[in-house]
Order: sequence, then C-alpha cells, then structure tokens
Amino acid sequence: MKICCIGAGYVGGPTMAMIAHKCADHTVTVVDLNQSRIDAWNSDTLPIYEPGLDAVVREARGKNLFFSTDVDTAIHEAEMIFISVNTPTKTYGVGAGRAADLRFIEKCARKIAEVSQGDKIVVEKSTLPVRTAESVKRILQANSKGRKFQILSNPEFLAEGTAIADLQNPDRVLIGGEQSPDGLLAIQKLVDVYANWVPREQIITTNLWSSELSKLTANAFLAQRISSINAISALCEATEANVDEVATAIGTDSRIGPKFLKSSVGFGGSCFQKDILNLVYLCQHFGLPEVANYWEGVITMNDYQKHRFARRVISTLFNTVSDKRIAVLGFAFKKDTNDTRESAAIYICEDLIKEHANLAIYDPKVTEVQIRQDLNVSVENPHVSVCEDAYTATEGAHAVLILTEWDEFKTLDYQRIYDQMQMPAFLFDGRNLLDLEALNRIGFEASGIGQG
Ligand code: NAI
Repeated sequence: MKICCIGAGYVGGPTMAMIAHKCADHTVTVVDLNQSRIDAWNSDTLPIYEPGLDAVVREARGKNLFFSTDVDTAIHEAEMIFISVNTPTKTYGVGAGRAADLRFIEKCARKIAEVSQGDKIVVEKSTLPVRTAESVKRILQANSKGRKFQILSNPEFLAEGTAIADLQNPDRVLIGGEQSPDGLLAIQKLVDVYANWVPREQIITTNLWSSELSKLTANAFLAQRISSINAISALCEATEANVDEVATAIGTDSRIGPKFLKSSVGFGGSCFQKDILNLVYLCQHFGLPEVANYWEGVITMNDYQKHRFARRVISTLFNTVSDKRIAVLGFAFKKDTNDTRESAAIYICEDLIKEHANLAIYDPKVTEVQIRQDLNVSVENPHVSVCEDAYTATEGAHAVLILTEWDEFKTLDYQRIYDQMQMPAFLFDGRNLLDLEALNRIGFEASGIGQG
C-alpha cells in the first residue's frame, strides 16, 4: 500500500518512520510545505531530536520512506493519507485563546479533495476537537465527484523524548471509524498496518467520536495529575511535608499508580495546554460550564506553579534580581527533546527579565536562535546570553535554576560551580532532580519544589 502523511513535524516524522521501518511492504511518503524541514529530514541532521530516531530514519529512508514537498503527487498516489498537521490554539476571532485552529486541517481536506482521482482513506493523526471528522467528511463528500472517502481517527499517544520507544511499544493504538461496512473495512486496513508490530489486543477500535474525544481526555487526565501534585507541592512548602515523599506514598496505591506524579515548575509542551483549552471550549460550546470550569482549573494551577517559582527566586534573592546573573540550566519543556513549545522555562525567564535579571541560559539541545525567538530578545539584548555549557552559564552567577531534568545536570561538578559563583550561592531545583543535602553540604542554599 502507498501511504502519504501530510505534516512532517514531531508526530508525522517519527510515526511514519516507524510505520516504514516495521512495514517493508508499504511505501510511506511524508510531505510538508516547509522546504527547510523536508531538507532536514533528508539530511544527516534531522529537524527534531529524539533518542533512537536517527537510526530508524536512516534504515528506511530512500527504501520505503520518503520526505518531499510534492504534496499533490504524494496524495494522488496514496491509498491512505494521514493528516498530521499542527492544530494550535486559535489566536483570533471566535474562540480565540481556547478553540483549536483548524485551518490547516481544512486546507488538507480541500487539497485531498482537489488532487485525488481514486478512493482514499483519510486518517486524522492530529489531535482534533470531537466531531472534526464530520467537517472533514463534508468537505470531501461535497467535492467527491464519484470518489469514495473514508475518514478514520487515529490519535497519536507518543510522548516527546520517548517517541521511538512509545511507537515501538505502544500501550495501545486507537482507531475510530464509521460503523458501516465501508467504515469497518477502512478500520481493518489501518489495523493491518499496526498489526505488523503491535499485538492485536492492544489495537482498540471505536466509533469516530470516542476516538477523537479519547485523545483530548487522555491529555486532560495526564495534565491533571501534574497540576494535582503541583498543587500539593505548594502545601508541602507551607507545612514541611515533602512532595516526593507524598508522591511515593500515594503512588504505591495501585488505584493511583506511581507515574506522572513528579512535581516540577509546571508542565509544558505543545499539547497539554492546547488540548485542555480545546476541551474547555468544547464544554462551553455544548452548554456544560461546570465541566469547562473543572478542566480549566488544571491550566490555572499550572500557570500558578510557573509564576510561583519565579516569585520564589526573586524573594529569596533579597527581593531583587535586577542586574544579577542567573544561570538557567535547561530550556526544553522536558529532557531528551529540543522542543520548547510552551516550556515552563519561557515563562520563568520572562518573569525574571521583567525584573531586569541577567540570564545566562544553557540547554544541551535547544539552539540559541530558538531561545532568542521564544524570549523575543535579539543578540544585542544585554539581559540574555546563551552559553555553550553549564560551567560558563554559572560563572559569577547569584543563582542556578534547574528548569529541565536533563540527565547531564545530575553529574555536573557542583563544587566547581559553587566555587565560581557569588555568595550566598543559591540553587533552585525546579525538577527535584538533585540531591539537595549534598548541595547544601558544599555550601549552596539549595531548594527544590515542595520540599518543606
Ligand atoms: P508540528 O508543528 O511539529 O508539525 C506540523 C507540520 O505540518 C509542520 O511542519 C507544518 O509545516 C505542516 N503543515 C501544516 N499545514 C500543512 C499543509 N497544509 N500541507 C502540508 N504541511 C502542512 O506539529 P506536531 O507536534 O507534529 O503536531 C501535529 C499534531 O499532532 C497536532 O495536532 C498535535 O496536537 C498532535 N500531537 C502532537 C504530539 C507531540 O508530542 N508533539 C503528540 C500527539 C499528538
């Protein structure tokens, strides 16, 4: 089968690379309008960093995996077309700041309708508001000219930083489709693709709307766990309880489970906030204000956590960070990715820049260009410097902030860092990554999140 995927981003690229890697009989072409992104996919420096991705791409590229900007040809030739374009929060008009912006999805649907000559199975891989398949279907059917289109929903559950492991060994694959003979046939075609490496019992099939809604719900539940433990971290700080101890204690309850209970500076990434806002908007649209308010609390708590951290830094540094060098270690929204979208680091840095701090930022995978773009500061801006390593960033600093849980931060020579800092040397571990007692023995005034 020929498969096409529109959108060569964090989802389209790795997902299609895995399908090509596992299904030698299928040819997969990933297309994007962004020429430089496609060039990067075809080069030795892939546009995204994911452990294990290089090897999977290298193995399949040029054999049954192709990256191209020729969208029309790929659609024309494919029997199955994945839509994996971005669905950001709308910034204009009705629903601004909440609703999903579906213009890229609609453009894809119209392009498929325009270019297709035969029947197609169209797979929604992007995360979409429940009932989007209805709109996609109407656009396709209104332009069908006798061709048949089946729409499937196949949301992606990979997490950045572990994308390859997640794709290789997913907890489940979810496929939603129309419960008609043609719909069930289309579902089966996609089941057959995944069944090349995913055990059949882990491939869940549902109707379209359950599938679409399950993705938003999964992200809302995951983000809610983080906001819940972060809410408790604030109470820990007020009461000398320790949030890591509380997390361990509750996580051993098999009904709760130990995962996703790590307190931090707040969640980031392109999905959680966007998808919850989208859920909130949907609930409001369907006249369910209580449900909307319930989920909106998850975002409110996350915002609180990010700003609370910045406020604590300022108050601990004698209520002023003006002209003080502050080393920021970590800028990506989590370890093992170069993605900074909605990273908590952006908000914390912004709060500190407003207080005229001088930030020295280091991240192992995020480029200077990206950091400056996220903070909206040019190279001339005296308040932001981007450093080559953690030791340069911490030279002469009044405080060190750990904002991403990169493994390499665990093994830095903290004595060396301490020796080159201003005294008192403060360290704020926003990820509860380090041994605070060991740091305090060196002489640091070190604190974590929710550590009493
Ligand atoms: P991305 O922004 O990295 O990639 C989207 C790509 O689509 C871009 O390269 C863009 O140029 C391309 N594109 C947009 N319109 C196009 C068009 N009309 N024709 C051709 N290409 C077009 O986005 P990402 O992170 O891959 O996310 C895609 C979808 O997957 C979103 O709906 C997101 O919510 C969802 N998702 C993302 C996850 C993640 O970890 N990033 C995980 C699970 C789902």
